[in-house]
Amino acid sequence: VTLTDLIPSLRTSIPARLDHALWPQSATLRHGDVALGRIPLADLVDTYGTPTYVVDEEDVRTRCRAYRHAFSGGEVAYASKAFLSRAVAEWVNQEALSLDVSSIGELAVACCVNFPADRILLHGNAKTPEFLRSAIDYGVGRIVIDCMSEIPRIAALAETRQRVLIRVTPNVDADTHVALATGIADQQFGLPIESAHDAIRRVLGQPGLELVGLHCHLGSQITQIEPYEIAARRLLDLIADVRREHGVTLHELNLGGGHGIPYVTGDQELDVTALAKRLRAVVKDECRTRSIVEPRITVEPGRSIVGRSAVALYRVIAIKHGIRTFVAVDGGMSDNPRPALYGAQYTMRLVGRVSHAAPALMTIVGQHCEAGDILARDIPLPDDLRPGDVLAMPCAGAYQAAMASNYNLAQRPAVVAVHGGMSRVLLRRETAADLLARDMSPR
Ligand SMILES: Cc1ncc(COP(=O)(O)O)c(C=O)c1O
Repeated sequence: VTLTDLIPSLRTSIPARLDHALWPQSATLRHGDVALGRIPLADLVDTYGTPTYVVDEEDVRTRCRAYRHAFSGGEVAYASKAFLSRAVAEWVNQEALSLDVSSIGELAVACCVNFPADRILLHGNAKTPEFLRSAIDYGVGRIVIDCMSEIPRIAALAETRQRVLIRVTPNVDADTHVALATGIADQQFGLPIESAHDAIRRVLGQPGLELVGLHCHLGSQITQIEPYEIAARRLLDLIADVRREHGVTLHELNLGGGHGIPYVTGDQELDVTALAKRLRAVVKDECRTRSIVEPRITVEPGRSIVGRSAVALYRVIAIKHGIRTFVAVDGGMSDNPRPALYGAQYTMRLVGRVSHAAPALMTIVGQHCEAGDILARDIPLPDDLRPGDVLAMPCAGAYQAAMASNYNLAQRPAVVAVHGGMSRVLLRRETAADLLARDMSPR
């Protein structure tokens, strides 16, 4: 239940202020325009065009620091799948976070900025030989084993002793969208907790591998602490078994990411400080009871670090009035598939001009050939909205630019960073020439 369900009038009025739970920390509202990093969004549109994603560097850095502070003594690994570019990898490195990579492309970006190998965690449920080879050549700190067959494959490739964790599914249903629930048995990631003993035995039997810990990832957009607490206890059970049965101490308890953030006013968010505090207490307690050494806690937040740091800017192209008012913009499911994939909800706001028109409910759609290409449904916008206007969508930093596709041969948007009154392009807008460059047929 969100605030808008409880107070329906919120749904039809345009907020006079920015909801700072949704917008980047540097966002200000003046004369109908929002500024980020002290630059009006309208100026950024003039410089970079639309659609464009604008990332507030300081917002990302501040959230990295807040995590490090909350989990001091533990490890925070940024889940790069949420959004990665060379600059982001550098920010994360400078803020002393670790990096979770799960594809050869993410690894390539990490290598490109010389991300310290010992702070890289390698994930993936289908790690190709090429991916494993590149990771081992770079000397990645830890590889998270996702299935039995990976055990001999990694052992065969490793030239020096490779540190590994085993990912288990702790059977914790974290009450999230089915496509985001990865802590339950009936999904494709990790090993069922019931077969973990077997996997542990096999890893310990490989002289080329060093088992350093256990991993789980419960899913995404989790707003309660309890699922993490249950998972921690289940993994600590296993860690105690390993100590008892094999005399081996596991030093890492990796509880994955999935920390929920708000997308619309009133949405709940996970209290990260409370989570850290609770997990520390649980680990201390359980380890004392079981007489085992306290492992270091690792978390792998992605969305909760970058999700609120970016705003997507779209230009209104066409407006259709009918049963519903449809506002078509120059982006859509090719740069933000989340509404179509998970029914994700968003808000948007007119920027670049002041409007005193009454609010009206409008549905913002993309430019793709699917009725499901809806970016935001029934949101309040000024009744005088017209083609050429610019709409800004907050909470656009995670799993949007990162998930962007070329559907309809769309050119993926630019990603721009702002910081202290300056802006710079992180990823340039794709061009038709980029798309044609891959087409190998003769002209
Ligand atoms: C293993 C693992 N860790 C961390 C994450 C990050 O999740 P989130 O961005 O929801 O924090 C994911 C997301 O899929 C994941 O699979």
